[in-house]
Order: sequence, then C-alpha cells, then structure tokens
Amino acid sequence: MTVDSITLIQPDDWHVHLRDGQMLKQVAAYTARQFGRAIIMPNLTPPVITAQMASEYRLRIKQATADYPDFEPLMTAYLTDSTDPVEITQGYKAGIFTAAKLYPANATTNSAAGVTDVRHIHGVLEAMQGIGMPLLVHGEVVSEDIDVFDREAVFIERIMDPLLKDFPELKVVFEHITTKDAADFVASHHGRLAATITVHHLQINRNDMLVGGIKPHLYCLPVAKRERHRQALRLAATSGSDRFFLGTDTAPHAVGDKESACGCAGIFSAPHALENYLQVFEEEQALDRFEAFASLNGPAFYGLPVNKKTITLEKVIQTVPDSAGTEPLNVQPYRAGDILSWRLQQ
Ligand code: DOR
Ligand code: ZN
Repeated sequence: MTVDSITLIQPDDWHVHLRDGQMLKQVAAYTARQFGRAIIMPNLTPPVITAQMASEYRLRIKQATADYPDFEPLMTAYLTDSTDPVEITQGYKAGIFTAAKLYPANATTNSAAGVTDVRHIHGVLEAMQGIGMPLLVHGEVVSEDIDVFDREAVFIERIMDPLLKDFPELKVVFEHITTKDAADFVASHHGRLAATITVHHLQINRNDMLVGGIKPHLYCLPVAKRERHRQALRLAATSGSDRFFLGTDTAPHAVGDKESACGCAGIFSAPHALENYLQVFEEEQALDRFEAFASLNGPAFYGLPVNKKTITLEKVIQTVPDSAGTEPLNVQPYRAGDILSWRLQQ
C-alpha cells in the first residue's frame, strides 16, 4: 500500500544543540517549526550550570523562536565535578530544569568542564533519583587506550551498568546511541532506562563518512559505526519498544569549522529531521510505529503530556538547500543537495 500523507501528534526533539548569539538566531526556527518541545543541550561557552543561566538562555531561545510562540524549550543543567545538588533540585522544582546532562570530561564539543569521575556527582544523582529528575548521558569513555569506535560499548560496561546498579530508580536517557551493544542493553534493561536515536545514525554508517573522500559534514560524536550497528539501531527505533525515542542531536557548526584540518563534530540535521526519520520508518515498513517513536514515547518517559497539535507530512519531493545562515556562520544542512521524498506541510 502506498501512503501519500501522514498526520500525527506533533513530535518533540529530545536532544538539540541550539547554540547562542547569532548562530541561535539562524538555527532555532528549523527546530521550532517542526517540534512542540525540545530538550536543549547546555554545552555553551561557558556551560549552563545554574538555574539562573538556564532561565536566561531560555528567554534568548524564546526570542529567537518568536515566530513559533508555542514552541517550548526544555532546559538542562550541565553537570560538573562540583555541581551542587541543591542548585539542580531547586532548579528542577522551580520548573527551570527538565533534566541534567552528564558529559564525561573531554568527550565532545565544550565538554572540558564535564565530569571526570561519576563518583564526584553521586550526591547529585542521589538527589535527582529522589525527585524523579532525568539524567541524560553522553555515553562514551574518554581514554587514550580506547579506540574511538569502541568508546560507547566500553562506556556501558565501565560506567552505565554500575551507575544503574547504584541508582536503580534514577531515570536515565542514554543519548544518541550508535551501537548494537547500546540498543540491546537498553532494550533488555529492567529499570528506568531509555535512549534517543538520531536520524543520521539511522541513515549513515562509517563508510559514508570515510569512503571516497572524507566527509566532514558527516562527522559527529559518537562517530557513526559499522553497518551492522546502523541496522540494529533501525530495528530498535522501529521495534515498537517505548524505550526508544526521537532525538536529533542537531549540532550546527559554521562550514569553516567543519571543513578544517581539525573539524568540529556535529551534524546540522534540524532542517529536515522529520522527513528523514519518516523515510527510515517507511523503508522499514513501520510507518504505523512512527508516531510512538516521534511523539509518544518521549513524553511518557519524561512524565509530560503529549502535544495537542498535529502535523502532516506529504509525499512530495524536495531538495535540501546547500546552505543555511549567512557568512561567516553559514551552516551546511545534513544531506545538502539530496532529494527527499517527504515534505512537512506548513
Ligand atoms: O557531534 C556532536 N556535536 N556530538 C556531541 O556530543 C556534541 C555536539 C556539539 O555540541 O557540537
Ligand atoms: Zn548532543
């Protein structure tokens, strides 16, 4: 059966980098035009560590998305070795923080101030567990002796598994999973563990990034893995399990910072995120499971209501533009120049 259009409850994006300043102004509308809510990553310079910083950042996001007044940014706290549990819990109780983000120190962009050892934040995790505040985890071990392609699998064994044993009631989101190891771990875990899956990790493997010339715009962290991992992620996303939900990890960097001798990690997938996710679900013959992945599982895990509006995507081709924004901060959208088979109705 061919489907010409699909209408569903408006989705949310549970993992977004909106940046700040001019970049924020350039990119925010791409997210706000599609999603009801978005979990906003706190890895700014300096990072968002206090409730005060988060509420000011939230205001700047609301200004940048003034054309979409219903769009709701959900703010997160950036955890450091010296995070005060009181700051986090008060911010959560005041409705400013929705979650807190654990970046292992030096794992990725602007993570130098991240956590060097999870033991340093045991008091914070204890407090979060007590109030039901979700912990969002960048799941990569950073160590000289660990191959970059193994960092996620090693993280499960060394950090994630012990953490879940120490805090069995803590709500944890394993962000942007990239391996079969992580998909299997999440699916089989009995506690309060879920995972976000990006659209690029459903669509590309490491060959796409490295064969026939290096493609800096497909470089992100965690880095794309082998094909068998991509296949496992597609199975997980379309499995119908409520443990998996949409999180783009859209992470804009100016073209000059990507096309560089030391290029930044991050894929700017916001512009056509929904069209690309939907294409994956169509290819997997799982269109009937898209709404749960995009619009229902996330709110259920976070304990939030589903969105009231609906959106419609039509089977209409469109070409992804080569560039967004203006010099020197122009950004290249994910799949620039490609033809997409779906289009979000505005
Ligand atoms: O590719 C990535 N880009 N991965 C991250 O974890 C951070 C992000 C960014 O902020 O650029
Ligand atoms: Zn991210």
